[in-house]
Amino acid sequence: MTGDQWILDNDRMRSFIGTVKAIRTTAQSPEEAIARIRPHFADLLGDAAWLPARYQEPPAEGDSGGMGKRIGMWLLYRSGDGSMAFSALVLPPGMQTPVHDHLAWGLVGLYRGRQSEQVYARRDHHRHDEGFADVEVVQENVLSPGDFYDLLPGNDIHSVRTTSAETSVSLHLLSNDNGCIWRHRYKPQERRIEPFKSGWLNAECGHDHEHARA
Ligand SMILES: [Fe+2]
Repeated sequence: MTGDQWILDNDRMRSFIGTVKAIRTTAQSPEEAIARIRPHFADLLGDAAWLPARYQEPPAEGDSGGMGKRIGMWLLYRSGDGSMAFSALVLPPGMQTPVHDHLAWGLVGLYRGRQSEQVYARRDHHRHDEGFADVEVVQENVLSPGDFYDLLPGNDIHSVRTTSAETSVSLHLLSNDNGCIWRHRYKPQERRIEPFKSGWLNAECGHDHEHARA
């Protein structure tokens, strides 16, 4: 892939992504970048005007991605070097994502509806048995529109569920192409971990990302 991909291109998007890029060039750490991006992210979450309705709807029947049936992963923007993706996750009422990680720092905020987030931690000291992972819930967060949280590598395993009667929409700013990288899905009851690629409903993954599995 060459060049940035603006799937949603409007003034609000250009301004937000431009600000994030400027912050990233001078931030000394993910924590500093997150702290400085936070107020701009809050502004975006509070603005009902810039995200078209089609990115707030689940996929049509039979058109689901790796996150699961009827769960929408809509890419809005990604950088050409794979170091940033901004997307909307659409979860119909009562639906839940698999337990998954992100392998990058990021910010996630609720734009519409209500969600419950279950945060997991590994309890096995990253034992290297193939396919084994022992994770448990360490925190549960209730999110209303405007609420958001950070993701940092080492503290980035969670699942989210819509608890409102309306579909929830959360915005994800990640420091990788999170739809296209190989990451992990966890099955806590079975103490299993497996490779996982969620994909994007509206964008392809390139060859470079395929090779990232190794
Ligand atoms: Fe997530």
